[in-house]
Amino acid sequence: MKIFLTGASGLLGRSIYERFLNESDWTVCGISFKRTKPGLTKLNLLEKDAVTNLLNSVRPDVIVHCAAERFPDKVESDPQAAYDLNVGVSTHLANVANKLNVPLLYISTDYVFNGDNSPYKETDEPTPINEYGRLKLLGEKSILDANLENIILRIPVLYGPVESLEESAITYLLIGLQKCQNSNELFKVSNYELRNPSSVNDIANIVFKLVEKKIKLVS
Ligand SMILES: NC(=O)c1ccc[n+]([C@@H]2O[C@H](COP(=O)([O-])OP(=O)(O)OC[C@H]3O[C@@H](n4cnc5c(N)ncnc54)[C@H](OP(=O)(O)O)[C@@H]3O)[C@@H](O)[C@H]2O)c1
Repeated sequence: MKIFLTGASGLLGRSIYERFLNESDWTVCGISFKRTKPGLTKLNLLEKDAVTNLLNSVRPDVIVHCAAERFPDKVESDPQAAYDLNVGVSTHLANVANKLNVPLLYISTDYVFNGDNSPYKETDEPTPINEYGRLKLLGEKSILDANLENIILRIPVLYGPVESLEESAITYLLIGLQKCQNSNELFKVSNYELRNPSSVNDIANIVFKLVEKKIKLVS
């Protein structure tokens, strides 16, 4: 079986890529863009025709869509670029998945909620309070509009093996602590946020199990 995985060079995508690579009955077509590595396929997901052509030639059994602009400040500074990636690309992938008759699993976020009254259930009403959350919710909608049988997985803040300390909100804290230690500068952090950090390896396992279950259901 074959998985088409977007965002395979990212914090979460790297773990999902490894998880499927360890399974002898799976092959992985992992997509990267700027961080190209051996084994990954370089593709700009914004180029719709190139995406359609690659999917038509790979003919995957499932698409897992991880790629996104996920830094809220970058979304705020260029909302159109974030819209194109988080909504436009999701819509296009979902439409192609439909034509190929393959399921799509979309990685979403707890930012679709407003932060009150967590933990959330699937049935809780999303009420995003920033542009990142709003765009990820629009991405979800486009995935389900294309096919109600597609899967949405909303995940919290992630930690795991990083390529730089800035990559995860958890390891980012260390940068501030190091600054304090080295220069006695104050490092300001919020004292009101309650987050639920999750391991990328745990999420990769969940994705694997969901995909296997889905494949069994559709075959
Ligand atoms: N990180 C978190 O704490 C967190 C929490 C909740 C939900 N999420 C969600 O989890 C998913 C994965 O997040 P992440 O933290 O792994 O993200 P990430 O580390 O920022 O990785 C983003 C990925 O998207 C790819 N990408 C960006 N623009 C692209 C383009 N034009 N064409 C092709 N690929 C492109 C990047 O490829 P290159 O780097 O190769 O360019 C990279 O592989 C996202 O959907 C995010 O919303 C993340």
